[in-house]
Amino acid sequence: MCGIVAYIGKNQACPIVIKGLQRLEYRGYDSAGIALMQEGDITVYKTKGKVSDLQSFIEGKPTDSTLGMGHTRWATHGVPNDVNAHPHYSGNKNIAIIHNGIIENYAVIKEELTKRGHVFHSDTDTEVLVHLIEEIQNNEKCSLEKALLEALNKVTGAYAIVVMERNDPNTLYGARKGSPLVLGIGTDEYFLASDATPIVEYTKNVVYIGEEEVVVIKRDGGFTLKTIQNVEKTPYIQELELKLEMLEKGGYEHFMLKEIHEQPRSIKDSMRGRLNAVDNTLKLGGLKEYEHKIINANRILIVACGTSWHAGLVAEYLFEDLARIPVEVEYASEFRYRNPVINENDVVIAISQSGETADSLAAIKLAKEKGATIIGICNVVGSSIPRETHAGSYTHAGPEIGVASTKAFTAQVVVLTMMAIYVAYKRGKITESKYRQLIIELDTIPDKVKHIIDSTNEQVKKIAEIYKNAHNFLYLGRGYNFPVALEGALKLKEISYIHAEGYPAAEMKHGPIALIDENMPVVVVATNHSAYEKIISNVQEVVARKGRVIAIVTKADDIIKSLAEHVIEIPDTEESFSPLLSVIPLQLLSYYIAVGLGKNVDQPRNLAKSVTVE
Ligand code: M6R
Repeated sequence: MCGIVAYIGKNQACPIVIKGLQRLEYRGYDSAGIALMQEGDITVYKTKGKVSDLQSFIEGKPTDSTLGMGHTRWATHGVPNDVNAHPHYSGNKNIAIIHNGIIENYAVIKEELTKRGHVFHSDTDTEVLVHLIEEIQNNEKCSLEKALLEALNKVTGAYAIVVMERNDPNTLYGARKGSPLVLGIGTDEYFLASDATPIVEYTKNVVYIGEEEVVVIKRDGGFTLKTIQNVEKTPYIQELELKLEMLEKGGYEHFMLKEIHEQPRSIKDSMRGRLNAVDNTLKLGGLKEYEHKIINANRILIVACGTSWHAGLVAEYLFEDLARIPVEVEYASEFRYRNPVINENDVVIAISQSGETADSLAAIKLAKEKGATIIGICNVVGSSIPRETHAGSYTHAGPEIGVASTKAFTAQVVVLTMMAIYVAYKRGKITESKYRQLIIELDTIPDKVKHIIDSTNEQVKKIAEIYKNAHNFLYLGRGYNFPVALEGALKLKEISYIHAEGYPAAEMKHGPIALIDENMPVVVVATNHSAYEKIISNVQEVVARKGRVIAIVTKADDIIKSLAEHVIEIPDTEESFSPLLSVIPLQLLSYYIAVGLGKNVDQPRNLAKSVTVE
């Protein structure tokens, strides 16, 4: 949830750390801080607010240092303020720490340490951890490394930490459990960060630090990797595929807009090497070893959160409709705490853009313990969820930086669509000719998405201007478009702070219809082939109560055109692929409303891109 970055080498640490924090700001942005090793002292600068506030705060202050670490925070323990911001010192200021995660047993440890005379300045669990390390070091008169290992064996919860010690300006320590940490290996310099984005412009060589592992980096002596039980490990050095331009706005005003526009490419990339429309075949290499499990599954359980959960709902329609496998879609957070019935013939699919969502991670750990086969659909290579799965497919959407997920959603849906078609075919639930027809149509989706972006952008902008001051929105959809209605509502809520509800269109008459009046914009996703007459009736029900209908329709739909106040036309496709198209105008609508209201589109209040706390 927070972003951490650290540097040790021959160059100035401060600009590298600050730039790295800007890259990681999507992970949290309520306060930021930096610690620099300076002439035998650790200087800490920290402030409430964004990394830009930290930059202003340190302007004109001494920053000369070749060892430093920084943190951008999303508050869990303690309100966002200067004191709770990281880094935190130990009591004697010998040690400083930055931390992403939650120390669950911090209260007990804090009580114990307080009795022993420790004085805490912040409300954070992190300060407790650094005091614990100090306490062990003082008691045992041992090295920081030994004290660190011991402390990490005493704490429960999740952490990615970086630690530095005043008496040792040539060493940096990192450790992780449950929260990500990547080591970048440059020439005579090293980097630690929550993900590879702060590292990519300096080196392509990285080591993803494993669960309960500690890395000790010596300025001139390389690094060692070990477990918190002090067992040395051989590091696996990987080459990054990430490119620097993927992390920049490329001329767009916001990352979200860039990412919406990237979808023709990101969908194509997610199909590349998998869907072949020349010989009409599908192959999902990452699933090969376990495909028999999916084909013969008794049922599929899908666990995810937020937008990824919406992609899971689309998959429910796909797998039941095409492959005839029963599917249950679960909020990962609920699944794990309700003692679910899982058995060995179940396949659990975890969907996650970041691959780090704590609830999803915990859900698959539980399902794995109970013997299910775990499949991952993730976007971030090397993240925690793919490491816990038996098999999976990456989505290849490229880095998604805007907090509101857009291209990750369509990439997830396209991968799940390919899976469902493949499994349906292998199970004999669709004919050879249907299989081929679906492949040919799926191949046209990137061009259709591009057409929608190009042809609807200006119209959607105008609609956004008309409705940007509405206090509530209703989003309706049926069948495959019900999850799209949920997704449209979520997008609007998170970036414009307007209350919005997604509803199955037919369910509206059982309650939400009472909300409809002349002030209520109702977005109806009405591209369905099946139940088309029913959706017309739903539009009429809204119109009859003076609701203002914005309808997403299939091109040349004159019936809904005659009823709705605004119609946004999109190309026709297979009904099962319609979420990939109908979601696009909804992404644009939420974007332009938020921009019209002057909101911070890429970093909405209270949110963070990667939710690594439960
Ligand atoms: O990284 P994940 O896909 O696991 O994240 C799940 C949700 O936190 C995420 O989709 C969230 O709802 C987005 N901000 C939605 O735009």
